[in-house]
Amino acid sequence: MPLTVTPFDHAPAGIGFAAEITGLDVAQPLDDEARDAVVAALDEYAVVVIRGAPISEEAQVAFARRFGPLEANNGVLNTDIKRRISPDLVDVSNLDEDHALLGREDRRRLFNLGNRLWHTDSSFKRIAAKYSMLNAHTVPPEGGETQFCDMRAAWDALDPATRDTVRDLIAVHCIRTSRGLLGFDTFSDAERAALPPVRRPLVRVHPGSGRECLYLASHAGHVLGRPVAEGRLIIHDLMEHATQARFVFTHSWRLGDLLIWDNRCTMHRARPFDTARYKRDMRRATVLEDAALAAEVDDESAAA
Ligand code: OGA
Ligand code: MN
Repeated sequence: MPLTVTPFDHAPAGIGFAAEITGLDVAQPLDDEARDAVVAALDEYAVVVIRGAPISEEAQVAFARRFGPLEANNGVLNTDIKRRISPDLVDVSNLDEDHALLGREDRRRLFNLGNRLWHTDSSFKRIAAKYSMLNAHTVPPEGGETQFCDMRAAWDALDPATRDTVRDLIAVHCIRTSRGLLGFDTFSDAERAALPPVRRPLVRVHPGSGRECLYLASHAGHVLGRPVAEGRLIIHDLMEHATQARFVFTHSWRLGDLLIWDNRCTMHRARPFDTARYKRDMRRATVLEDAALAAEVDDESAAA
């Protein structure tokens, strides 16, 4: 069956950057031609969904590896608790090791609530995420959508004076920044040491499309060379700009969806649902960004 790419006709005023791919069975080995077609679709649209039945962890990992090396350290929290799913995947669920709902105060649940803040995956690591591939195994009956915004369109829509102001700025990203926004600060010394703050340009060229784009996340806390309050306001204002409805696409999940996004030119966030009643089980494979884009460790705040 030939592979077809059909853009979603979202929000009349919206900017189309999401598409559905049909004619591809992600449970089967992926040949080079199909892989290149998926990459081409991602370069153009940034978010693609491939629908089908949920796939095995092995199939998901094998599919993702066709796009490059995967993020190996899949968990920020160090815990002795047995993982629920393969260490090659990130557990994006509200479930514990026995597949039961996490308790309200469970540290894993509180940490995962950070996914409700706009972000791009692993911007707080030296090597960030290129593609995230999220497969839906259990979907709540209502809520729990995932939203995306297009950072290329957001850049294009900035006024020239703001572009000039921010073009060469460097932001400092740290997992403790985003979690701190929610009052989560129970990181152990080992967890802190493993993830020191890193420096990343606020504006980059998206390698997939050659277009300039903003690179932001709730992990970004300040701007080099600016007072903290001033840098934080720059980040805040840009986030507000980039997440206007006209730049946002909302994905409503169906069981089995494999949703792939390019973290280099989008931000995303999870939307709320009744976590005390419903299970939501998503598993993420994460393809690493190219080493050439690696961040520098921010020695100043790492030492603080
Ligand atoms: C992720 C993420 C959002 C969601 O998997 O990286 O942020 O809707 N997920 O679960
Ligand atoms: Mn994420």
